[in-house]
Amino acid sequence: MKIVIRNERESDFTAVKELTREAFWNLNFPGCNEHYLVHVLRNHPDFIIEMDYVAEVDNKIVGNIMYTKSHVVDERENEVETLTFGPLSVLPDYQRRGIGTALINFTKEIAVKNNAKAIIILGHPHFYCKLGFRNSIDFMVSNSEGRYPYGQLMLELEKGFFKDTKWKFLYSPVYNFDSKAADEFDKQFSLKTKEFRPTQEEFSIAVRAYLS
Ligand SMILES: CC(C)(COP(=O)(O)OP(=O)(O)OC[C@H]1O[C@@H](n2cnc3c(N)ncnc32)[C@H](O)[C@@H]1OP(=O)(O)O)[C@@H](O)C(=O)NCCC(=O)NCCS
Repeated sequence: MKIVIRNERESDFTAVKELTREAFWNLNFPGCNEHYLVHVLRNHPDFIIEMDYVAEVDNKIVGNIMYTKSHVVDERENEVETLTFGPLSVLPDYQRRGIGTALINFTKEIAVKNNAKAIIILGHPHFYCKLGFRNSIDFMVSNSEGRYPYGQLMLELEKGFFKDTKWKFLYSPVYNFDSKAADEFDKQFSLKTKEFRPTQEEFSIAVRAYLS
């Protein structure tokens, strides 16, 4: 399967919103709002248009990655710009065929060329740690409240940059969007059934918790 990665164009906007909706639908809760995030991101100052990529297979858009500017700040209020991606989406029929990995590795190279210090995300360790991400506690990067969430993951791009200092990670306010506005936005898309669909892993965790 040949994967072509290229910058997103205006003519792709609808396809990308649709594919984001398909990828996230019923994943974290009934329905999803990541397609609304895609919509609001495009007009937000933290959106990095140059790092907005789509993946194509046989001329069909099957994946997308979008980045925003984020920051870490140390105890003396020194601020360093970092990168954050999200949403990252692959159409369900094309998942687990290397497309998500290809989008991350491709954009990581661009980040390195642009002297970015780190990519910091909130995501699933099972996927991202295989690609070199580590829990941000390994770099003493907490969240804004000084905690180290399980899913706050970091890919260090400049080795040793974060050594010997404590940092707080501040992601873009664009991710704190209004969920009611997202529900309203969804009404313009085709009707889809909202239901809770736990992943196999979530299901096994729930069963283990029940049996213990
Ligand atoms: C997560 C996602 C972007 C990965 O892209 P992909 O093209 O399917 O991934 P790749 O084929 O490159 O890599 C496969 C790996 O992805 C991970 N993965 C895929 N789907 C996953 C899921 N639902 N939960 C956790 N990890 C997942 C696994 O580690 C998998 O490896 P494995 O098959 O050995 O277990 C894609 O599955 C997707 O769009 N999922 C729905 C939306 C989403 O979760 N986005 C990321 C938000 S943090």
